[in-house]
Amino acid sequence: MLSPIEQLAQAFNCAERVLIITGAGLSADSGLPTYRGVGGLYNSNTNDGVPIEVALSGPMLQRDPALCWKYLAELGRACLGAQPNQGHEVIAQLQRLKPHCWLLTQNIDGFHRAAGSPDERLIEIHGQLAPLYCQSCGQKDDDLARRLAAALPPLCRRCAGVMRPPVVLFEEMLPEKAIHTLYEQLGEGFDLVLAIGTSASFPYIVEPVLRARAIGAFTAEINPARTDLSDRVDLYIAGRALDVLPELLSHISVNRICKSSP
Ligand code: APR
Repeated sequence: MLSPIEQLAQAFNCAERVLIITGAGLSADSGLPTYRGVGGLYNSNTNDGVPIEVALSGPMLQRDPALCWKYLAELGRACLGAQPNQGHEVIAQLQRLKPHCWLLTQNIDGFHRAAGSPDERLIEIHGQLAPLYCQSCGQKDDDLARRLAAALPPLCRRCAGVMRPPVVLFEEMLPEKAIHTLYEQLGEGFDLVLAIGTSASFPYIVEPVLRARAIGAFTAEINPARTDLSDRVDLYIAGRALDVLPELLSHISVNRICKSSP
C-alpha cells in the first residue's frame, strides 16, 4: 500500500499537465505571516482601528495613502527580509521535470521566481510587490527597499504622484492577463492539481481544483489544517509544505515511471 506522499508522487509521474496552486502557507516556512488561521494578519484590527482588509484596500490607497502604505510597507519589509524556502525550490524542480507544470500563486513575495519557477508558467493572481509605479504618470521604480527606507507614501520623482505596487488590493480587480492565462490553461485541462498552503478562500482558487476533478484529474492538498478543499480532493495530506515537498520530490526522483493511476 502506497503512502499518501507516494500516491502523490505516482500521480505526478503519470501526469502530463500539472497545476500547482500556492498560498501564504508555503511562505510561512520562510517566516512570513499568513493572513488567516493561527497568527494570521487578518485576525485582528490594525492599530489604526480598521481591519487590515480595509487598510490594504484600493479605496484606502486613494483616501488615505499614508495609512495604506503603512501596512503595504510592513508586508514589503517582511518579504524583503525573508528568503524562498526549500518548498519553493522543490516546486521549481517539479516545473523543470514537467514542461506542462503550471504554477498559480496568491503570494506577492516573489519567492517562486527567486527559487527558479519559470516566468512563462507562473500566474501571480494577486500581482507582485515591485516594481512600484506612479498612479498619475506611470513612471516605474524597482528599488522597493530604498523606497521603504524613505518617507512614505513614496512619491513619483517625475510628477510627485503617489506610487503603488502592482499588487491586487482589496476591492480591486484581478489582473486581466493572469485571469486570461489561468482560464486558457484550464481550458487545456490538467491531469493533476495540487493545492499547497492556501485556505482556499477565493472562488478562483477553489474552481480550478473542482473543475479539473470533474474531468478526471487527480486532486490533492497539502496543508497542516483542513480547509473547504480537504474533503473535495482525492488526497489530503496533513502537513507543512517544508516537510512534505522534499519527501515528495525524493519519491518522484527515484522512479519517474508511471505505473498506474493512484
Ligand atoms: N505549510 C503549508 N500550509 C500552511 C503552513 C505550512 N507551513 N502554515 C500554514 N499553512 C496554511 C494554513 O493552514 C492556511 O490554510 O496556509 C494557509 C494560509 O491561508 P491564508 O492565510 O488565508 O493565505 P492564502 O490562502 O494564501 O490567502 C489568500 O487572501 O487576503 C488574501 O492576498 C491575500 O493572497 C492572500 C489570499
